[in-house]
Amino acid sequence: MHLYPAHEAPADETQRETLGASASAAPVGTGRASGKVILLGEHAVVYGVPALAIGIDRGARATAFEGGSPTSVLEVPAWDVRVAEGDASTDLGRAFTALVAAAREHGACASLARSGSVTVSAYSELPPGGGLGCSAALGVAIARALVPALAATEVADLAMAWERVFHGNPSGIDAAVAAHGGSILFERGNPMQPVPLKGTLTVCLGSTGVPSSTKTMVDGVARLRERKPELVEKSFAGITSLVRNARLALEADDTVGLGKLMDLNQMILSGLFVSTEEIERLCGLAREAGALGAKLTGAGGGGCVVALAADGVSADRIVAAWEAAGFSGFSSTVQATIAAANAAPPAAEASA
Ligand code: MEV
Repeated sequence: MHLYPAHEAPADETQRETLGASASAAPVGTGRASGKVILLGEHAVVYGVPALAIGIDRGARATAFEGGSPTSVLEVPAWDVRVAEGDASTDLGRAFTALVAAAREHGACASLARSGSVTVSAYSELPPGGGLGCSAALGVAIARALVPALAATEVADLAMAWERVFHGNPSGIDAAVAAHGGSILFERGNPMQPVPLKGTLTVCLGSTGVPSSTKTMVDGVARLRERKPELVEKSFAGITSLVRNARLALEADDTVGLGKLMDLNQMILSGLFVSTEEIERLCGLAREAGALGAKLTGAGGGGCVVALAADGVSADRIVAAWEAAGFSGFSSTVQATIAAANAAPPAAEASA
């Protein structure tokens, strides 16, 4: 993915430093979205294999303001970036143009429909190219700000207009998780299925510090599939059965079993040449520090590793081990109740 350098978002939208006309205008729509962590099934999911993923509380948010300029504008103040609808010179400009066009077709907010333009301010708490769904979270948050009161599935569909610009042929899992949060089983072309959790799931996310391009990594697997179709099909068959078993393990709160399945998924991903030295090192450090399982998450080639922890104390140990080795990381939890609640359409989207 080619977006912009990682920066921490301001903690609060009131701290927004506007780049343009939205400085004094009243908000007409707001949206939030989760970051995503693929527990098992990345890459294979592009070819129709199911994948398991969770939404994390770090994500993105966006606020739309009435008019402000003749064409709609997207500002990402923390990145010092401003693009206008129709701007074809950057991926961000093309993605915003595609999303605004799709929003108009889906019954955009009254302000966009009435004045023909809005100014959107957006923030991401996720590192671009980090495998945690930065682009999808931004796309979903902006889609929610542009088109109020859509169900999560519709928002995810809408955000695909944005995602296709960055990723070419994305499976849709990133947008689905960004829109739904909680824990889901995603299968391309089918409605996503919430997976009810019995207990709290604690994961650690460790960054290799190396940004990677999802499109490049997906293209690499496609080329391997052309050269060695049997190897790749066998790998996908293996991943299919790991994902099925992982779903059962998740539902039964069998985190030990889930961790082992994640380790096996990592072995298969290495065989598809999407792992790197840094990823293997982060996985090794996590397992030595007591992780139940560890693997790359997202496209690989850099980005992040996900390690499953037994509890908060174990999560702290894993993150400390990464930090002692010069990497950065953080932990996140998905609660049983949150998983169920997030399966419902978002309740609090502002309307124009
Ligand atoms: C990227 O987060 C996940 C991939 O499977 C690509 C996709 O599903 O579009 C690598």
